[in-house]
Amino acid sequence: MTTATGSLDEDVTIWLTPGHADRGRLIEDPYPLFDRLRDEAPVYKSQPGPWFVTRFPDVLQSLREPGFSRDASRAMNRHLGSASGDEPLSEDAAERLFETWMLYRDPPAHERLRRMMNKAFLPKSIERWSARAEEIALELLAPLRDEAEFDLLDRYAAQLPLRIICEMIGMPSDRAADLAAWSHTIVMLQEPGERTPEFDAQAKSSLVECFAYFRELVAEKRRHPGDDIISILLESEHAEANPATDREIVGSCILLNVAGQETTMHRISNGTLYLLDNPDQYRALRNDLSLMPNAIEEILRYSSVNALPRYATRDVRFGDHVIPEGDIVLPVLGAANRDPGYFDDPHNFDIRRPNARDHLTFGNGIHYCLGVHLARLEANTALTVLNRDAPELELVDDTPRWRDTFTARSLQRMPVRWAG
Ligand code: HEM
Repeated sequence: MTTATGSLDEDVTIWLTPGHADRGRLIEDPYPLFDRLRDEAPVYKSQPGPWFVTRFPDVLQSLREPGFSRDASRAMNRHLGSASGDEPLSEDAAERLFETWMLYRDPPAHERLRRMMNKAFLPKSIERWSARAEEIALELLAPLRDEAEFDLLDRYAAQLPLRIICEMIGMPSDRAADLAAWSHTIVMLQEPGERTPEFDAQAKSSLVECFAYFRELVAEKRRHPGDDIISILLESEHAEANPATDREIVGSCILLNVAGQETTMHRISNGTLYLLDNPDQYRALRNDLSLMPNAIEEILRYSSVNALPRYATRDVRFGDHVIPEGDIVLPVLGAANRDPGYFDDPHNFDIRRPNARDHLTFGNGIHYCLGVHLARLEANTALTVLNRDAPELELVDDTPRWRDTFTARSLQRMPVRWAG
């Protein structure tokens, strides 16, 4: 484990500055910085501006605080130079994508969007996908059995959530690669920091293409409804006083993929990495797959999204501090999940940890992950199939390469080979 060497302000500034020469050490291992923040300044106003909240109870409180808004759409759209008005789907409207996301809306708009989509994500709706998820995992695994070496992230962990969400949305599988590319661009749009004009131009054209595709798909589902999420949302035209607009349906499809794919694929690959790094636990799990549900919770605890931005819509008292209206607040889930006041020996990966499931990796409050049952099902299926139906794996490269992102804890690649 590397150690944080700068002052708190220096390290936080480096962490928030993409491209900083010293950022690599914090991307590789942000946990010493999270520990220092939690110990020395649990509610901390950083020099660049955002407040960092790092203790478990404070992170929980900040996720539930009605005075903290998740509405990031205005800031995002300013960045992309958006148009105003509520015109029909167009290039300008594509730039206003984030306004259609429940994730970035406050009540009452949030509640309306969430209610319309909720039906597809109830436990009984998700349970129906269990056999299909296993079928896909086995299909993905089959060709890998003959390969000497492969990227587990790209060939397996990424493909299962992608294929499931395509099927749930009602999207043909031959467009899955496009969906993955659009989602990746949108994920990168949400990273803090300055972006190049080239990136913005590429992001805009990617969003326009994505919107055009989904607009067409929505029109098709209106003509021929199916057993899919777009058709469920279209049903709201009959059931709701204020039904989802086409723009909201398109935005919701994109949100589902963005929220569901990268999060899940990286938990599957990070989880495999932690298991390979802990051979005793890896073997224990392979010998007794009933340990899997708790192992998944420990994987989620150990490798959450780092932080989820909010901003104060009024002055909010937080312990000894008052967070003024307009300030950005970062509840650091990655720090809460390793709070020693809550989890014993928190930096230790332990698939038998009794309270692993208490993690905050799915958030809390009104934005609590809508896809929580699907995420658990996908992670469970992917890791069960991999550990039940295939030989042991080993890492090709012992040094994991983490992606240079602030919000996520994600590997760039995960080259592996079959052991023995
Ligand atoms: C292991 C995988 C996943 C993780 C770690 C995860 C994590 C999260 C977190 C932390 C939030 C709350 C964000 C906030 O409060 O700012 C969230 C919200 C959300 N997630 Fe997930 N998620 C995962 C998988 C999924 C899947 C598979 C889907 C659906 C396909 C999904 C759909 C959503 C949606 C729609 C929201 C917004 C809910 C709202 O605003 O009310 N997630 N997720």
